[in-house]
Amino acid sequence: MTMLAPSILSADFANLQRDVELVLNAGADWLHVDVMDGHFVPNISIGVPVVKSLRKATTGFLDVHLMISQPEKYIDAFAKAGADLLNVHVEAEGDMAAMLKHIRELGCKSALTIKPNTPAEAVFPYLPLCDMILVMSVEPGFGGQKFMPSALPKLQALKAEIARQGLECLLEIDGGINLENAKEAADAGADVLVAGSAVFGAQDVAATVKAFKTV
Ligand code: DX5
Ligand code: ZN
Repeated sequence: MTMLAPSILSADFANLQRDVELVLNAGADWLHVDVMDGHFVPNISIGVPVVKSLRKATTGFLDVHLMISQPEKYIDAFAKAGADLLNVHVEAEGDMAAMLKHIRELGCKSALTIKPNTPAEAVFPYLPLCDMILVMSVEPGFGGQKFMPSALPKLQALKAEIARQGLECLLEIDGGINLENAKEAADAGADVLVAGSAVFGAQDVAATVKAFKTV
């Protein structure tokens, strides 16, 4: 079954524990945590202290998406704060192979993320070092944007290459995912669906989580 990782970017940060419990109790699999530095993307969101507080508030799996220019400077801090998985953008600065190995050494799951204009092939050399690849289906930086279907063939290409290399790497899609396009994303190969506004902006958040879980 396809997993759901609600993005807390669209939650109420003044009531974060309430919102996190709501989605997890309704059956969400992970929590997706969007970290933005105002440099890699034109927006600023949250950082290490919020991950640390979340870790105290929940046993839920924390899928941390680092939209930051210099991830290697912060990997240790996010791991120590309690991240379960760290997504690093392949377009960011630094030695990707070294970072992915380091993330695993710290006891976290490792993931590489690609922006809409980055081809799937950019991460092929790193697949053995990755527990997951995150394919962005919007330009990173903001919730509530329109889904870009160009992400779908990238999922298919990645799925084929992961099978070809005989690996067990998950695929995640992030951006503009809603109940209308969730099935095509899953059919294209997504194991994990990130959804922010479609979950936290819904009239009935719990019912929406449950509906996603039927995809
Ligand atoms: C965008 C973030 C997403 C965002 C998704 O940069 O990476 O995780 O929260 O929000 P929706 O689902 O509203 O597109
Ligand atoms: Zn994200």
